[in-house]
Amino acid sequence: MPTLLSNEQSDYWSQVAQSFVWRKKWEKLQTGDFHKANVEWFVGGELNITENCLDRHLEDRRQKKALIFEPNNPNELASFLTYGELHISVCCFANLLLNRGIKKGDVVCFYMGMTPELMIGILACARIGAIFSVVFGGFSPLSLRGRLEDSNAKMIITHDGGFRGDKIVPLKQMVDEAIVDLESIKTVLVVKRTLQEISMKQGRDYYYDALIKDAELYCPAVTMKSEDPLFILYTSGSTGKPKGLLHTTAGYMVHVGKSFKDVFQYKENDIFWCTADIGWITGHSYMTFGPLLNGATTVMFEGIPTYPTPARFWEVVEKHQVTHLYTAPTAIRSLEKFGHEIPEKFKMKSLKVLGSVGEPINDEAWLWYHKYVGKERCPLVDTWWQTETGGILISALAGITELKPGYASLPLEGIEPALMNEQGVEIKDLVASGNLCLKTPWPSLARTIYGDHERFIQTYFTTYPGYYFTGDGARREANGFYRITGRVDDVINVSGHRLGTAEVEEAINEHVDIVESAVVGLPHPVKGQGIYAFVVPTNNVVDSEKLEKEIRDLVVKIIGPIARPDLIQVVDGLPKTRSGKIMRRILRKIVENEIENIGDTSTLLNPEIVEIIIKTKKSLS
Ligand code: PRX
Repeated sequence: MPTLLSNEQSDYWSQVAQSFVWRKKWEKLQTGDFHKANVEWFVGGELNITENCLDRHLEDRRQKKALIFEPNNPNELASFLTYGELHISVCCFANLLLNRGIKKGDVVCFYMGMTPELMIGILACARIGAIFSVVFGGFSPLSLRGRLEDSNAKMIITHDGGFRGDKIVPLKQMVDEAIVDLESIKTVLVVKRTLQEISMKQGRDYYYDALIKDAELYCPAVTMKSEDPLFILYTSGSTGKPKGLLHTTAGYMVHVGKSFKDVFQYKENDIFWCTADIGWITGHSYMTFGPLLNGATTVMFEGIPTYPTPARFWEVVEKHQVTHLYTAPTAIRSLEKFGHEIPEKFKMKSLKVLGSVGEPINDEAWLWYHKYVGKERCPLVDTWWQTETGGILISALAGITELKPGYASLPLEGIEPALMNEQGVEIKDLVASGNLCLKTPWPSLARTIYGDHERFIQTYFTTYPGYYFTGDGARREANGFYRITGRVDDVINVSGHRLGTAEVEEAINEHVDIVESAVVGLPHPVKGQGIYAFVVPTNNVVDSEKLEKEIRDLVVKIIGPIARPDLIQVVDGLPKTRSGKIMRRILRKIVENEIENIGDTSTLLNPEIVEIIIKTKKSLS
């Protein structure tokens, strides 16, 4: 049965919401339920999120740093913007958008490196009610095109090129490839960064430099209804193409602002560094909106953890006196490889709180991060949430909740998780393992999949009617602590980035010499999970090394470098049921080295193939 909000939950959320600036107070706190997947919050209210992020701080924090920018190259000067300056920058950018004909409800896509213009740009969209859609620069032009088509974006904002460690990503060139004959894109706005040569199409492509000069310094914030769309963010699911999760204005603001303050126990003058790219939800919620809603100073880093050396993170912490470091287990594991002697050289006295997000953090990485970075004096919060949830739902509160490595710990106030058993029934025992659901609505839940509400319902609300299903498995202990055990669907989490196995298989199957394929997650010491692809070629294939290379290149071309398979095993066939269904479960067990747990294979259509696959299995070197 769907559970409606309790009186305490209603009181809690309405009290939280009152600490924000509204143009008109809401009439109804929450409507709809998980059965109909029509949840809305603060119905009838009016506001603008940028007034909450910027204008309301001008009186007391005009001179306070809002944003510190640390460039890719440590020899380039870091820069910063005060709240006063950020407000003006956002207004100018908003006027630029208006001057280019962008209106409330239009979609503007960002495909750029991590420079202040990206944060300013999304805030500028929110200022005028345009819907922003940030696409991570690591996605291929083909992936970008799919997202532009799906969202019907009118404008795309990019860099000439992006710096990433010692590499340059030719972003404008990739945009050019992506938008060939794409009618909906009327403007390409180019922010200069690498100053490399690019081609500019007259009447469509403009330099930001040139247009921003004519933009006025003040732009009034448009009045938004609580449920007006704020942004679309694409993420992978277990089936089909990536889905554009749509987040709306008031609910997103309320939960993200409050959870930032509570989880990280933010205090005025703290310096918060979230290392995620704005192309992911973490960069939206805890680099941009969470900190700005609280008048905090947020650090934006253009580069990568290992450039120019694996000491870069610790140098940045000391340089900018970072108090809060929020990063992903994969980043920690990649730095752990270089030895604890490196962070040991840095005292990092400013650090007060550490955070982890994006994937389960293994004990070893947790202890390393806590000991060598946090010097055993900083609480380490393991924050569980998803693109769909908008903000953190299960996490320790820094310095308040007891810490236990591997445990996201307790739900935040107002949040009600549930574990479901194999029969689809909620497990009431405290100590239990099951599939993780949410029982009651919270404000920052995504409202739909852009353009496909039916898929939204199917994906999240049909497995357990009346509940929101996360796709994760979890265990609950006697003290109520949750341990997230990972995805239970066909989604793999590569370096904290979600990829649907079906998406990768579709890309592989595009190869002319591939009959079929099956992709499963591979335990990986740095990435958490890697990609293991089983491929069945046609009889034409003689050189399997060449085939493997072609497959890798194809996947990079279609999806992007994050989806490049780590291991490819050429096989004669895949284990199938008699009805022809590929038994991924068996392949998963083989890859996870759990051969003794494969179970009975005699009912398979082709049991002999399992032995052969085991014999020729590959391993990471
Ligand atoms: O499987 C969970 C894992 O990441 C998934 C969500 O991915 P995404 O939407 O890209 O958002 C990542 C940033 C919030 C979840 O379904 N995940 C996220 N945080 C944790 C986690 N798994 C374990 N522990 C976490 N702290």
